[in-house]
Amino acid sequence: MKKIVVVGSLNSDITVYASHFPAPGETMIGDKTCFGYGGKGSNQAIAAHRCGGDVRLISRVGSDMLGKDLLDYYKKEGISTEYIGISETAATGCAIIEVSAETGNNTIIVAKGANEELSAADVRAAEKEFEDCDIFLTQLETSMESIMEGKRLAQKYGKPIVFNPAPYAELPVEMFEGIDFITPNETECEYYTGIPVNSPEDASRAADKLMEMGVKNVIITLGKRGAYFKGELGEWLVPTTDLKPIDTTGAGDSFNGAFCVAYAEGMDIETAIKFANSVSSISVTRQGAATSIPTRKESEELLKSYYGIEI
Ligand code: RIB
Repeated sequence: MKKIVVVGSLNSDITVYASHFPAPGETMIGDKTCFGYGGKGSNQAIAAHRCGGDVRLISRVGSDMLGKDLLDYYKKEGISTEYIGISETAATGCAIIEVSAETGNNTIIVAKGANEELSAADVRAAEKEFEDCDIFLTQLETSMESIMEGKRLAQKYGKPIVFNPAPYAELPVEMFEGIDFITPNETECEYYTGIPVNSPEDASRAADKLMEMGVKNVIITLGKRGAYFKGELGEWLVPTTDLKPIDTTGAGDSFNGAFCVAYAEGMDIETAIKFANSVSSISVTRQGAATSIPTRKESEELLKSYYGIEI
């Protein structure tokens, strides 16, 4: 079992499903509301766990009902809560999500709350986990100091780093240096490089720019078009499956968590991306973030039936 350390967010998600998105200033009637478990860090951690990884999530919740509920969910799921701190001053992170029934696409507003209080010292308190982990994964929903400290410790112990630069944030240039895999979606990629990604040629130029910034390998997730890879071993587009999306919340997160497990297990990069595509393809056929993430068995079945790969 490969060990994955994640510095990342825990959120309580409130999702409203509606026929379409409202226009600015419009009040419209939706179909239903769901309360769920989310946060990009947590979704990635849960995906890694359900794919068979041994996960340590370093995070922070508030001392409120939502935080308690998230901790209970983790205990039931069988993921360690040792490094999930409890803030006495900030509320549990919360995301307000709208999902359109037309496309399954979403809009999300996140109030980071306690996630923003995660300190460098909190991450250092988990240093021993970095020492013997197989891979480090992070994103941008906790404080910058926690993310930078995670990166520093991963580099100190020579561990591969997967950095999902979501949601977009202004970043110090050092954040990109020495990253093994960066995994933006098209929108984030355009923010970081200034290059709109509408074709494989655009993706290639944007990847070059990210590599000039110090990143070793680039995976741009392209929604229903799959994922584009460029890096040390070449470049290629990995198409994704044709499963119909009903809710894309957490699709990128499940891709990241799954990719980490697959790569840490020694799958070649293309197979690891196909495995990650399989996981995220199943997740979009279900509602919610954490609740939509499939098991390893389900993902392996799709990997076999769609890509013809048996692992
Ligand atoms: O990527 C999806 C996630 O973004 C949601 O679970 C929400 O909490 C926000 O962090």
